[in-house]
Amino acid sequence: MTSIEICNVTKSYTAGKIEKIVLDNCNMVIQSGEITGLIGRSGSGKSTLSRLLMRLEKPASGMIKFDQTPISQLDKKQYYNEIHIVFQNATASLNPSWTIRKVFEEVLIMKKEKWGSHHLAMLKKMNLSSNILDVYPSQLSGGEKQRINLLRALFMNPSVLICDEIVSNLDRINQKELISLLLEIQKNTKMTILFISHDIDIVKAICSSIFELDEGKLKRLI
Ligand SMILES: Nc1ncnc2c1ncn2[C@@H]1O[C@H](COP(=O)(O)OP(=O)(O)OP(=O)(O)O)[C@@H](O)[C@H]1O
Ligand SMILES: [Mg+2]
Repeated sequence: MTSIEICNVTKSYTAGKIEKIVLDNCNMVIQSGEITGLIGRSGSGKSTLSRLLMRLEKPASGMIKFDQTPISQLDKKQYYNEIHIVFQNATASLNPSWTIRKVFEEVLIMKKEKWGSHHLAMLKKMNLSSNILDVYPSQLSGGEKQRINLLRALFMNPSVLICDEIVSNLDRINQKELISLLLEIQKNTKMTILFISHDIDIVKAICSSIFELDEGKLKRLI
């Protein structure tokens, strides 16, 4: 079980001559084995924070710690065995020229695993038929693509999972289904989850603590 600490993190972007501070001295703890919620208006910096957590970008100041060690000091390959993200854009996250089988196989090769009954059972749990394995992303609905992205992340068996607005583009029924699956998986694995959303009702329903980003400031709501 793994906790993450965001310590005095600041991040800004420059557009033309104007500097915009997106994250202003932010502090947050993502508690081990819990689902932590992060809400905030569009453009408030939620995905920016997730990119910093994924080491896709660096903070201007401050640091992020993973089990007390600054993530900048961790071996990147090892770090990516521990932490995974499901990105906001389900379509952009899938290679359009790959079948879904290839999408999953890429992960299994990395994990040195072979496709087996355990993976098929997880596919079924996600309400995905095995027929989808031989189709391309363009042949799938948004909800199916997002379930595939989530499943790919779960096949990595990370100790920490970042879900960046994974249900925002889905209808209510699909949202409910995906969230109950996520809750079941979290209950079984005790995975540490950062659940990013702008839907306060969903976040309230599933998260044990909630943070809000507003005007660069990160504050704890619950
Ligand atoms: N690479 C970049 N260069 C310049 N500005 C950026 C860059 N990435 C993000 N921004 C700006 O930073 C701010 C925060 O963006 P971010 O994507 O983190 O918001 P968000 O809270 O995830 O929004 P949404 O809810 O719409 O996904 C926005 O004003 C955005 O325009
Ligand atoms: Mg975002």
